[in-house]
Amino acid sequence: MLTFALSKGRLADKIFKMLKELNLVDITIDEEDRRLIIEQGEFRFFLAKPSDVPTFVDNGVADLGVVGKDTIIEEHRDIAELLDLGFGKCRMCVCAPKEDGDSYKNIVNLRVATKYPNIAKAYFDSMGQNTTIIKLNGSVELAPITGLSDCIVDIVESGRTLRENGLQDVTTIHDLSARLVANPASLKTKYDEISAVVEGFRAILKEK
Ligand code: PRP
Repeated sequence: MLTFALSKGRLADKIFKMLKELNLVDITIDEEDRRLIIEQGEFRFFLAKPSDVPTFVDNGVADLGVVGKDTIIEEHRDIAELLDLGFGKCRMCVCAPKEDGDSYKNIVNLRVATKYPNIAKAYFDSMGQNTTIIKLNGSVELAPITGLSDCIVDIVESGRTLRENGLQDVTTIHDLSARLVANPASLKTKYDEISAVVEGFRAILKEK
Protein backbone atom coordinates (compact mmCIF):
# COMPACT_ATOMS: atom_id res chain seq x y z
CA MET A 1 0.00 0.00 0.00
CA LEU A 2 1.31 3.45 -0.99
CA THR A 3 -0.18 6.41 0.87
CA PHE A 4 -0.27 9.95 -0.56
CA ALA A 5 -1.04 13.19 1.28
CA LEU A 6 -2.60 15.64 -1.16
CA SER A 7 -4.51 18.87 -0.91
CA LYS A 8 -8.04 18.87 -2.21
CA GLY A 9 -8.89 20.73 -5.41
CA ARG A 10 -6.84 21.44 -8.49
CA LEU A 11 -3.69 19.82 -7.15
CA ALA A 12 -5.33 16.52 -6.18
CA ASP A 13 -7.17 16.46 -9.54
CA LYS A 14 -3.87 16.80 -11.41
CA ILE A 15 -2.29 13.95 -9.46
CA PHE A 16 -5.30 11.67 -10.01
CA LYS A 17 -5.08 12.49 -13.72
CA MET A 18 -1.38 11.60 -13.85
CA LEU A 19 -1.91 8.35 -11.93
CA LYS A 20 -4.75 7.51 -14.32
CA GLU A 21 -2.43 8.04 -17.29
CA LEU A 22 -0.11 5.52 -15.67
CA ASN A 23 -3.04 3.09 -15.24
CA LEU A 24 -2.48 3.02 -11.48
CA VAL A 25 -5.85 4.41 -10.31
CA ASP A 26 -9.04 5.77 -11.84
CA ILE A 27 -10.39 8.39 -9.46
CA THR A 28 -12.37 11.57 -10.03
CA ILE A 29 -13.81 13.63 -7.20
CA ASP A 30 -16.44 16.31 -7.60
CA GLU A 31 -17.05 19.41 -5.50
CA GLU A 32 -19.77 17.69 -3.47
CA ASP A 33 -17.42 14.95 -2.31
CA ARG A 34 -16.55 15.34 1.39
CA ARG A 35 -14.37 12.22 1.81
CA LEU A 36 -10.98 12.85 3.37
CA ILE A 37 -9.59 9.38 2.62
CA ILE A 38 -9.91 7.66 -0.73
CA GLU A 39 -8.63 4.13 -1.31
CA GLN A 40 -8.26 2.28 -4.57
CA GLY A 41 -6.17 -0.81 -5.26
CA GLU A 42 -2.77 -0.38 -3.70
CA PHE A 43 -3.20 3.36 -3.19
CA ARG A 44 -4.58 5.40 -0.34
CA PHE A 45 -5.00 9.20 -0.48
CA PHE A 46 -5.41 11.66 2.41
CA LEU A 47 -6.91 14.99 1.47
CA ALA A 48 -5.30 17.48 3.84
CA LYS A 49 -4.84 21.24 4.07
CA PRO A 50 -1.90 22.23 1.81
CA SER A 51 0.22 23.46 4.73
CA ASP A 52 -0.35 20.18 6.61
CA VAL A 53 0.86 17.86 3.82
CA PRO A 54 4.53 17.93 5.02
CA THR A 55 3.37 17.04 8.56
CA PHE A 56 1.70 13.82 7.34
CA VAL A 57 4.75 12.90 5.28
CA ASP A 58 7.33 13.81 7.93
CA ASN A 59 5.54 11.66 10.52
CA GLY A 60 5.39 8.68 8.17
CA VAL A 61 1.60 8.60 8.11
CA ALA A 62 1.89 9.23 4.36
CA ASP A 63 4.70 7.84 2.19
CA LEU A 64 4.37 10.52 -0.47
CA GLY A 65 2.98 14.02 -0.66
CA VAL A 66 2.41 16.73 -3.21
CA VAL A 67 2.92 20.21 -1.92
CA GLY A 68 4.05 23.67 -2.98
CA LYS A 69 7.70 24.60 -2.60
CA ASP A 70 6.55 27.54 -0.44
CA THR A 71 5.17 25.15 2.19
CA ILE A 72 8.29 22.97 2.02
CA ILE A 73 10.55 25.94 2.74
CA GLU A 74 8.26 27.40 5.39
CA GLU A 75 7.71 24.13 7.28
CA HIS A 76 11.37 22.95 7.51
CA ARG A 77 10.34 19.28 7.66
CA ASP A 78 12.44 16.15 7.38
CA ILE A 79 11.14 15.12 3.96
CA ALA A 80 12.82 14.22 0.68
CA GLU A 81 11.99 16.30 -2.38
CA LEU A 82 11.78 13.91 -5.35
CA LEU A 83 10.38 15.81 -8.31
CA ASP A 84 9.43 19.26 -9.52
CA LEU A 85 5.97 18.67 -10.98
CA GLY A 86 6.09 21.92 -12.93
CA PHE A 87 2.55 23.05 -12.17
CA GLY A 88 1.36 25.61 -9.63
CA LYS A 89 4.14 27.91 -10.76
CA CYS A 90 4.34 31.19 -8.87
CA ARG A 91 6.83 33.37 -6.98
CA MET A 92 7.44 34.35 -3.36
CA CYS A 93 7.96 38.09 -3.37
CA VAL A 94 8.43 41.18 -1.28
CA CYS A 95 5.56 43.47 -2.34
CA ALA A 96 4.93 47.09 -1.41
CA PRO A 97 2.65 50.00 -2.33
CA LYS A 98 3.31 51.06 -5.92
CA GLU A 99 4.34 54.61 -5.00
CA ASP A 100 6.99 53.33 -2.54
CA GLY A 101 9.16 51.52 -5.14
CA ASP A 102 11.95 49.67 -3.33
CA SER A 103 12.18 52.15 -0.44
CA TYR A 104 11.31 49.33 1.98
CA LYS A 105 15.04 48.54 1.82
CA ASN A 106 15.82 51.75 3.73
CA ILE A 107 13.37 51.28 6.61
CA VAL A 108 15.28 50.58 9.82
CA ASN A 109 12.77 48.36 11.59
CA LEU A 110 10.68 47.09 8.68
CA ARG A 111 7.16 45.83 9.43
CA VAL A 112 6.47 42.80 7.23
CA ALA A 113 3.06 41.10 7.08
CA THR A 114 2.99 37.52 5.78
CA LYS A 115 1.49 34.03 5.90
CA TYR A 116 5.11 32.78 5.73
CA PRO A 117 6.95 34.11 8.82
CA ASN A 118 9.92 31.71 8.52
CA ILE A 119 10.55 32.54 4.85
CA ALA A 120 10.19 36.27 5.51
CA LYS A 121 12.48 36.25 8.56
CA ALA A 122 15.15 34.13 6.84
CA TYR A 123 15.14 36.44 3.82
CA PHE A 124 15.46 39.72 5.73
CA ASP A 125 18.01 38.20 8.14
CA SER A 126 20.10 37.20 5.12
CA MET A 127 19.90 40.80 3.89
CA GLY A 128 20.90 42.10 7.33
CA GLN A 129 17.65 44.06 7.69
CA ASN A 130 15.85 44.32 11.02
CA THR A 131 12.18 43.38 10.83
CA THR A 132 9.06 42.93 12.86
CA ILE A 133 7.16 40.03 11.30
CA ILE A 134 3.37 40.23 11.51
CA LYS A 135 1.74 36.84 10.90
CA LEU A 136 -1.55 36.94 8.99
CA ASN A 137 -3.64 34.02 7.74
CA GLY A 138 -4.86 35.45 4.44
CA SER A 139 -5.71 38.64 2.53
CA VAL A 140 -2.19 39.79 3.38
CA GLU A 141 -2.43 42.61 0.82
CA LEU A 142 -4.64 44.45 3.32
CA ALA A 143 -1.68 45.06 5.64
CA PRO A 144 0.25 47.76 3.73
CA ILE A 145 -2.97 49.37 2.50
CA THR A 146 -4.30 49.80 6.04
CA GLY A 147 -0.98 50.81 7.59
CA LEU A 148 -0.48 47.57 9.52
CA SER A 149 2.83 46.94 7.71
CA ASP A 150 5.33 48.59 5.34
CA CYS A 151 5.41 45.64 2.94
CA ILE A 152 4.37 42.00 2.61
CA VAL A 153 6.03 38.72 1.70
CA ASP A 154 3.50 36.73 -0.30
CA ILE A 155 2.85 34.54 -3.29
CA VAL A 156 2.38 36.23 -6.66
CA GLU A 157 0.82 34.15 -9.41
CA SER A 158 -0.93 36.31 -12.03
CA GLY A 159 -0.18 39.53 -10.14
CA ARG A 160 -3.85 40.50 -10.27
CA THR A 161 -4.39 40.75 -6.50
CA LEU A 162 -1.46 43.16 -6.24
CA ARG A 163 -2.59 45.29 -9.20
CA GLU A 164 -6.14 45.57 -7.94
CA ASN A 165 -4.90 46.76 -4.56
CA GLY A 166 -2.31 49.33 -5.61
CA LEU A 167 0.69 47.15 -4.77
CA GLN A 168 3.59 45.79 -6.80
CA ASP A 169 6.15 43.01 -6.42
CA VAL A 170 9.56 44.51 -5.81
CA THR A 171 11.86 41.57 -5.12
CA THR A 172 11.52 37.86 -5.91
CA ILE A 173 12.71 35.65 -3.01
CA HIS A 174 11.95 32.18 -4.45
CA ASP A 175 10.50 30.63 -7.62
CA LEU A 176 7.85 28.11 -6.60
CA SER A 177 5.95 25.12 -8.00
CA ALA A 178 4.36 21.86 -6.80
CA ARG A 179 6.80 19.16 -5.66
CA LEU A 180 6.52 15.43 -5.06
CA VAL A 181 7.95 14.68 -1.61
CA ALA A 182 8.55 11.45 0.32
CA ASN A 183 9.07 10.22 3.83
CA PRO A 184 12.78 9.26 4.05
CA ALA A 185 12.05 5.88 5.70
CA SER A 186 9.36 5.01 3.11
CA LEU A 187 11.89 5.80 0.41
CA LYS A 188 13.94 2.86 1.69
CA THR A 189 11.18 0.40 2.61
CA LYS A 190 8.99 1.07 -0.47
CA TYR A 191 11.74 1.97 -2.92
CA ASP A 192 10.32 0.00 -5.90
CA GLU A 193 6.74 1.28 -5.56
CA ILE A 194 7.89 4.88 -5.10
CA SER A 195 10.36 4.66 -7.99
CA ALA A 196 7.59 3.43 -10.29
CA VAL A 197 5.51 6.52 -9.47
CA VAL A 198 8.46 8.90 -9.79
CA GLU A 199 9.57 7.45 -13.13
CA GLY A 200 5.98 7.44 -14.40
CA PHE A 201 5.47 11.07 -13.43
CA ARG A 202 8.84 11.99 -14.96
CA ALA A 203 7.84 10.39 -18.26
CA ILE A 204 4.50 12.25 -18.31
CA LEU A 205 6.22 15.56 -17.56
CA LYS A 206 8.73 14.97 -20.34
CA GLU A 207 5.95 14.48 -22.90
CA LYS A 208 4.49 17.91 -22.08
C1 PRP B 1 -2.85 33.89 -2.79
C2 PRP B 1 -1.73 34.85 -2.42
C3 PRP B 1 -2.17 36.13 -3.07
C4 PRP B 1 -2.85 35.64 -4.33
C5 PRP B 1 -1.92 35.75 -5.50
O1 PRP B 1 -3.90 34.10 -1.92
O2 PRP B 1 -1.58 34.96 -1.02
O3 PRP B 1 -3.05 36.85 -2.26
O4 PRP B 1 -3.18 34.24 -4.13
O5 PRP B 1 -2.52 35.37 -6.72
P1 PRP B 1 -2.55 36.34 -8.00
O6 PRP B 1 -1.15 36.88 -8.16
O7 PRP B 1 -2.94 35.43 -9.13
O8 PRP B 1 -3.54 37.41 -7.75
P2 PRP B 1 -5.12 33.08 -1.77
O9 PRP B 1 -5.96 33.10 -3.00
O10 PRP B 1 -4.59 31.76 -1.36
O11 PRP B 1 -6.00 33.72 -0.62
P3 PRP B 1 -5.61 34.28 0.83
O12 PRP B 1 -4.92 35.59 0.61
O13 PRP B 1 -6.89 34.46 1.54
O14 PRP B 1 -4.71 33.27 1.48
